[in-house]
Amino acid sequence: MSRLDSFIRRVSAQRDVLDHVCSLIAGLPGPVLELGLGNGRTFDHLRERLPGRRIVAFDRALGAHKSSIPPEEDLVLGEIRETAARFAGIGAALVHADIETNYAEVDAETMLWLPSLAADLLQPGGIVASGLPLQHSALRHLDLPPGVPAGRYFLYRRLA
Ligand SMILES: C[S@@+](CC[C@H](N)C(=O)[O-])C[C@H]1O[C@@H](n2cnc3c(N)ncnc32)[C@H](O)[C@@H]1O
Repeated sequence: MSRLDSFIRRVSAQRDVLDHVCSLIAGLPGPVLELGLGNGRTFDHLRERLPGRRIVAFDRALGAHKSSIPPEEDLVLGEIRETAARFAGIGAALVHADIETNYAEVDAETMLWLPSLAADLLQPGGIVASGLPLQHSALRHLDLPPGVPAGRYFLYRRLA
């Protein structure tokens, strides 16, 4: 498969997952936390799909396209492990974590702290969509939407 085909599959799966989780949280009030603003593409998609919903975006530095920069009060710069921990208890309806690097050592380290961070950020019934698998006793695994290959994303619901 060409890198172009692979890229198209990856972003298409990402779009399908985000649309799916937006429908899952339709009746659940509470903010959305975007861990890994990056270029701002998924932030922009969530913003479009969830009009009126507060979306707080995190990254170590601002690199988003100027059309996709959150308002100052909803942009948090620094190491997510530390910055997002300050939002524990916020009662997020959705956490989207797009911070995998595909460097095994870096991702292994992230998987040590991301599961409990996600659990602390979510309200009971809230959803986390992550590019990395999350193992935590308060997070119950959910199926991916049809057509999204296993292992490309991981979905969980926060238990009560
Ligand atoms: C794959 S990009 C996100 C792409 C974004 N979802 C988009 O659609 O444009 C991952 C981003 O997460 C940030 N990131 C990864 N690990 C981080 C960490 N531990 N703390 C802060 N930012 C982190 C990187 O700086 C990068 O901008």
